[in-house]
Amino acid sequence: MTSLAVMGAGRIGGEMAFLATVLGLADEITLYDINRPLLEAQILELSHTGLDVRLSTDPAAIAGADIAVFAAGSPRNPGIRTRADLLGVNLPVADHCCRLLRGFDGVLVTITNPMDANNYYLWKTLGLPRERCIGFGGQLDSARFRIFMKECGMDGPAWVLGEHGEHQVPLFSHLGREVPVEERDAILARMRGSSMPVIKGKGGTVFGPAWHIFNLLKCIALNGRQVVPVSCILDGEYGVQTCSLGVPARIGRNGIEEIYEWTLDDWEEARFRDAAESSCVLCRRSDA
Ligand code: 2OP
Repeated sequence: MTSLAVMGAGRIGGEMAFLATVLGLADEITLYDINRPLLEAQILELSHTGLDVRLSTDPAAIAGADIAVFAAGSPRNPGIRTRADLLGVNLPVADHCCRLLRGFDGVLVTITNPMDANNYYLWKTLGLPRERCIGFGGQLDSARFRIFMKECGMDGPAWVLGEHGEHQVPLFSHLGREVPVEERDAILARMRGSSMPVIKGKGGTVFGPAWHIFNLLKCIALNGRQVVPVSCILDGEYGVQTCSLGVPARIGRNGIEEIYEWTLDDWEEARFRDAAESSCVLCRRSDA
């Protein structure tokens, strides 16, 4: 038995609720959005699958869910270059959702950008154990990294740590061969810009995030205990204190079971430091 609450019934929240319904992730799904007509249309559509999932729009059910997903807020548009630029518009949404999450003691998954800073804000405001605050983004970044690696004739495990945004850190040192800095920088530039063609073409990314979020939720719900790149509240790991940043972590039913401190090469270490600095600055701004 798994109950899932999704705050934000827009593109990503709606698609992810659809996948959770049709792929049998949860027995009960509560959907929330301030846009009532959208919320009612999404829940009606989900009911038309005819599948045996209890569907609800009762905000009071959110705090009692096993897993709650924060996906509400504004996505980027062609005029908003970076995810960090969304902090001002989405922090009030995070604050609104904290009121819905009062008393929540399940596992929280943060989607809304800037995801790392929002994950930190929700953790700080709700007072949840850090093990139960998971920021989503690294799995999606890693999938994109794999595509660009293959286009460059590379193969191997694709891992992206750091910030879900400009300061993402693809781990070339895990590929088993030296990758020149020029090639690394070129691939990193492509990764940073990889979602913008989708945003320009259809208004926002959906399929990529929704699929990887579903897999993260499945790992939680089924106690998968897989090691995946997720944003965690760090407390000294990688020399980083009190901010949320993408690192390898084992994920199970109760959230983050273990954070792994991997050796980074000089290029990766420098960018991870930049990512930590950027995330800490955004996290401090969310404290203000
Ligand atoms: C993305 O990269 C929405 O941040 C998400 O597609």
